[in-house]
Parts: sequence; C-alpha cells; structure tokens
Amino acid sequence: MSERTNPDRNLALELVRVTEVAAIAASRHMGRGEKELADGAAVDAMRSQLSMVAMDGTVIIGEGEKDEAPMLFNGETIGNGEPPKVDIAVDPIDGTTLIALGRANALAVIAASEGGTMFDPGPCVYMNKIAVGPDAAGSIDIRKTATENLELIADRLNKRLSNLTTVILDRPRHEDLIKEVRAAGARIRLIPDGDVVGAISTAWPDAGADVLMGIGGTPEGVISAAALAAMGGDQQGLLWPRDEAEKAEAIEAGYDLEKVLSIADMINADNCFFAATGITDGDLLQGVHFDRGVARTQSLVMRSKSGTVRLIEGQHQLEKVSRL
Ligand code: FBP
Repeated sequence: MSERTNPDRNLALELVRVTEVAAIAASRHMGRGEKELADGAAVDAMRSQLSMVAMDGTVIIGEGEKDEAPMLFNGETIGNGEPPKVDIAVDPIDGTTLIALGRANALAVIAASEGGTMFDPGPCVYMNKIAVGPDAAGSIDIRKTATENLELIADRLNKRLSNLTTVILDRPRHEDLIKEVRAAGARIRLIPDGDVVGAISTAWPDAGADVLMGIGGTPEGVISAAALAAMGGDQQGLLWPRDEAEKAEAIEAGYDLEKVLSIADMINADNCFFAATGITDGDLLQGVHFDRGVARTQSLVMRSKSGTVRLIEGQHQLEKVSRL
C-alpha cells in the first residue's frame, strides 16, 4: 500500500472532531427520555463532520440495525472521497438508553482501519465476548468456561480470583454467567449498557475492571477491538445469532459460528484508529459540560500502529462553531 493510500496518523485527530460534535449534539438530549432523538442528533452531527474528513471511507459497521434506529448505514460512503481508502465502524451513541436517562458512561465512538481490513458481521448483531487488558493478554480462551477463564486471568495477573472484577451487561441472558462468576468467587460490576466502556475499562489504569464477559453488540465488539489493539489488550468473540432464522441466514452467508474471532480477525491491520468522546460523565471520561457559551468535552484517541493513547480536552465556543 503506498503512503498516499495508507491512512496517516492525522486521521486519529480528524476522527476526534467527529466524536466531539456527535457527543455535543447528543448531550442536548440528556435525561429527556428520547433515545431516538438523541441518536438522530448524534448521527446527523457525525455524518456531517465525516463528510469533511479527507478519506474515501466506507461504513462497514453502522449503528442502528438492532434497534432500527437512524444510522450511518452499512455500505454508505463517507469522507470527501480522496485517498486513503478507509473502513469505518460507527457508534454515534454507545448507550442510547444511558443518555435518555441521564446515566453514566454514554459515549460517541468511531473506529477506522485501512480499506478492506474490517470484519463485516453481516446479519449477526450480537457477539459473545471476553476482553482483558494488556497484563492478561494471551491468557483468555472463550471456548473455556467463565470459571476457567477467571482462573487463567487471576494466575496471569498474580491476583487472587476473589479480587478480580468482572464486567457483565445486566441482562436476563446472563443469568447463568452471573451465577457462575459468583460461584467462582470473583466480583461483578453489572452495567446497564455500554460494553465499549466495559471493554476499555479492563485496559484502563484505575478503572478497576479485570475482564469483560458476556453477549453484547457486534458493532461494539469490533469498535472495542480497535481500542484494545492500541492499548495492547486482548479480546475474543463468537458470533451469537438471536434465533434459528438469524443462525440460518448467517450460515447461508458463509459465517462460521464456531470460529473464535480474535482482535486480528475483527481488524486485520496494524494501523487502526479509535476515537471516543464522553456524552455523560463516566468511568473513563467526563461527559459534555456546558458553561457560558462553551461546551467542554473529554475524548480518547488511539492509534494501534504507535500504541499512542491520548486524552483530549476540548473547549468549543458554541456560537463560533455553529457559524462554521
Ligand atoms: P445502544 O446504544 O445501541 O443502545 O447499545 C448499548 C448497548 O448496551 C451496547 O453497549 C451493548 O453492546 C448492547 O447495547 C447490548 O445489546 P442489548 O441492549 O440489546 O442487550
């Protein structure tokens, strides 16, 4: 791939502009109980900002199919059409219910990689996942039980199993998983939504999480893979069809439901990018705060090739920005 067609490091900073505007737009709807309106505002802001980014982008993973929400649809071309060719996964709001209820940890998030390198999950909107930070990378195996994985992680981290914290989405489908983790003796952080924050928190110093386990969105899985690739963490996934019809559709389309998807299977590039901006205050980032005509944002920007993780504070003069 020539220099001209290979996304360069500036793309990371372009992408943070995209998540900043999406977060500011969505944050106007905080606590209003209207998740579609919040999502629509974030999608519109993201799409409009993306049109200015110098890239020939294709949305491989658009948000919204699971909930039939407004979206940047799969296959949509974005950017100003100039090289480089880039694959994009968007999640204008990870945690639409969180923003609608004014709860913690809603994020605007995007991931990008060289064209042709991002996994397209087709009809599979859910994935069973296990994710850990850099210190436990290489110790996990999603084919093993939760208890076995906790033992492996505890061993690798040189921690007592009872001191491990497992992040799990609070869903009825996780009843057995939760029972097993409790029986194994590990601690649990049950999260109402937002498993991108859940996955990153396993790799984030002082976030107090050791492993994420359970079934969540496939888009969120691919996006988390980009962040964990940059942070040196580890993640595995197995596609998880919701019913027999979805299973048949996936098999018909050629997906191997037994295949363990590693980070490299989800993003087959050593140069991928991740950007996220807090919408509501959370474990990793502060949300959007408004103060006398200024919106303050906190964002994370990462690039896997260099492994650089940046925490970026933004102050946006709302009047000037709206004129632009
Ligand atoms: P949305 O923002 O699309 O509502 O996703 C929030 C989320 O909690 C994700 O973080 C997670 O991967 C997924 O939903 C889990 O799906 P479900 O809510 O259907 O269990």
